[in-house]
Amino acid sequence: MQLTLATFFALATLSVGTMAAPTSNHHHHRDQHKGKAFDHILQVWFENQDFDVVNEISTWKTLAKEGILLDNFNAITHPSEPNYVAAAGGSNFGIDNDDYYNIPANISTIYDLLEKKDLTWKVYQDGIPSVGYTGYHSGQYVRKHNPAVIFDSVAQNPKRLANIVPGTQLDADIKDDNLPNWMFYTPDMLNDAHDTNATYAGNWLERFYKTTLSKPNLLDKTLVLLTFDENASYPKRNRVWSLLLGAIPKHLKGTSDKTYYTHYSTLNTVEQNWDLGSLGRGDAEKQSNNVFEFLSKTVGYKNTHISENAIPLNNNTITGLLTGKSFNQTHPQGGSPPP
Ligand SMILES: *[C@@H]1O[C@H](CO)[C@@H](O)[C@H](O)[C@H]1NC(C)=O
Ligand SMILES: *[C@@H]1O[C@H](CO)[C@@H](O)[C@H](O)[C@H]1NC(C)=O
Ligand SMILES: *[C@@H]1O[C@H](CO)[C@@H](O)[C@H](O)[C@H]1NC(C)=O
Ligand SMILES: *[C@@H]1O[C@H](CO)[C@@H](O)[C@H](O)[C@H]1NC(C)=O
Ligand SMILES: *[C@@H]1O[C@H](CO)[C@@H](O)[C@H](O)[C@H]1NC(C)=O
Repeated sequence: MQLTLATFFALATLSVGTMAAPTSNHHHHRDQHKGKAFDHILQVWFENQDFDVVNEISTWKTLAKEGILLDNFNAITHPSEPNYVAAAGGSNFGIDNDDYYNIPANISTIYDLLEKKDLTWKVYQDGIPSVGYTGYHSGQYVRKHNPAVIFDSVAQNPKRLANIVPGTQLDADIKDDNLPNWMFYTPDMLNDAHDTNATYAGNWLERFYKTTLSKPNLLDKTLVLLTFDENASYPKRNRVWSLLLGAIPKHLKGTSDKTYYTHYSTLNTVEQNWDLGSLGRGDAEKQSNNVFEFLSKTVGYKNTHISENAIPLNNNTITGLLTGKSFNQTHPQGGSPPP
């Protein structure tokens, strides 16, 4: 079984390896990178805070004046890792804890769809000790909050691993006017509120906005989504505080939007913006894939109205392919995880 799987993954990696590599200089194919509503998207994910708590804190409230507050944005499940996995894979694949997982290399992701269209992507990880690091944790960095490395289609492909970079690389990419089309930024375990609180994270965000997010090279052409992986209260609906900034219509600044969204909405918004097709998972389900309303006409997608009493709690464990199959669960005595 072990040998068969290893052989299979090796073959799957080979086929991934032959796919078009992202170009290092996006100026060569400018037209191809033009989206219908935006040319760049950046998600910044915070951790485990309840909507009502965040919405009372001045730093977050001040920033909300610059954007569209998403009043009805929902995480997929609990705890963290399955939400980050869902953001790139359109499913949690049965992951129901924060263990060390390797998602089989045959599983498609948003990175496949982007690269097929020669679009570029990077995952910025605050505190990661090196480019493409695959370890479980180091200092304030954790693998469970990295939406790329958990997929073996990335972790077994050196070209793709090179897209997993320290958070500080974002400032360099802004300065060089060399932003990838799809970006994901994970603040470390203190800055994202996981080991601190929403006040601490709000103070960090206020600084991050001043030094980085507000730079015209970024903000003028990038749709920025600030969101949280999950709510803190398991018995409650998994609604998370979320804000759209940057490439939004000016007259919508300081407004709010009550459309029902989930983490799959962000995937579908990206897919519709560049006509990427879909992964055929949560990103393709009308119940969970509404695109951001302000751009739905521009990208040509009709959202589904989900009435208040039809909104799921999204607070339960979702089992499936990988349930019970983490490195930890299959190596209860410990040992070294795959490189
Ligand atoms: C998230 O948790 C907070 C705090 O308990 C609660 O007020 C809220 O109703 C929960 N869910 C939603 C839908 O915000
Ligand atoms: C991917 O590989 C796994 C493990 O071998 C297998 O169980 C699964 O059915 C495969 N999935 C697809 C979509 O081919
Ligand atoms: C949040 O954390 C800070 C320390 O960073 C602390 O001073 C403050 O009391 C905490 N706030 C709450 C509401 O727990
Ligand atoms: C989800 O919320 C419902 C309703 O509050 C609660 O009964 C259930 O235990 C929650 N699920 C989890 C896993 O906490
Ligand atoms: C899971 O495995 C990783 C990598 O070996 C290890 O660092 C971590 O402590 C393990 N976690 C649990 C909950 O056993």
